[in-house]
Amino acid sequence: MTKSRATPSQFHGGAAIEVIDVSKTFQRRGEHLAVLDRISLEAAAGEFISIIGPSGCGKSTLFNILAGLESADGGKVEVNGAVATGASEHFAYKPQKDLLFPWRRVLDNATLGLEVQGMKKKDARQLVEPLIEKFGLTGFEHCYPYELSGGMRQRVALLRTVVQGRQIVLLDEPFGALDYLTRTDLQLWLSSMWEQFHWTVVLVTHDVPEALLLSDRVYVLGNRPASVCCVLDVDLPRPRGLECIGTPRFAELEEVLLTNLRDPERANRSSSIGSAHLIGDGRVDG
Ligand SMILES: Nc1ncnc2c1ncn2[C@@H]1O[C@H](COP(=O)(O)OP(=O)(O)O)[C@@H](O)[C@H]1O
Ligand SMILES: [Mg+2]
Repeated sequence: MTKSRATPSQFHGGAAIEVIDVSKTFQRRGEHLAVLDRISLEAAAGEFISIIGPSGCGKSTLFNILAGLESADGGKVEVNGAVATGASEHFAYKPQKDLLFPWRRVLDNATLGLEVQGMKKKDARQLVEPLIEKFGLTGFEHCYPYELSGGMRQRVALLRTVVQGRQIVLLDEPFGALDYLTRTDLQLWLSSMWEQFHWTVVLVTHDVPEALLLSDRVYVLGNRPASVCCVLDVDLPRPRGLECIGTPRFAELEEVLLTNLRDPERANRSSSIGSAHLIGDGRVDG
């Protein structure tokens, strides 16, 4: 392997992340809008964790802080035990509204993140091309976004994100706008990519089965200002296929998440269920 030609092998391996007591209040037209209230969560290197919470509770704000686009008012973020503030080289971020440029072909959309980092187009293509097949885009390299299905567009956006070779991948509701079948296909595909590349993944979703299918652990956030109201270890065996959705354990875990989402206050007062840690006032309760 020459130095100038990077290969996909450089994308292997994730990093541990710890979010510790991160808080954020926006100032809007002279008013304070408290959004995040001492959020703490963690993922070991190579773990897949999900964050679920009501709309507007601050999930995208948390990702913006991790990616260095917003600053936190309090708390800290650590990657592999070292404080990581501001724009950090550890995170690949796929924002919630991550549009492809309609005038750029698939290859050129996929290389965009690398080009923005200052890489020459030719070098960026050398990184992207070996991944085209894995991302199910063979034969579509020279198509424009309007020629692709919704699922393919998402795969191009994901390729653009992960080709940047960062150790922690932040995905903000990547499949929210897709129909059920396409979404399910992409969930299983993402799971297989994660198993191959061993990234650390943090996924924001509002889809409870999606969180359970993909994650090692799920963090449930309450209403704004959001704090973590439940941490659920997902002990379903891997590799997981659609068949696990029909199992009694899946239904049990789904019920825990739905109870917490519907009424975080009430869920906090109930006793610990299965592998869920119910959290009140920032402390583990059971
Ligand atoms: N830059 C900003 N300035 C002021 N308010 C913001 C800003 N970004 C987000 N907000 C507000 O913070 C709250 C949380 O937003 P967001 O993080 O996008 O929620 P979620 O992703 O959970 O739906 C919303 O009320 C939103 O209007
Ligand atoms: Mg959001």
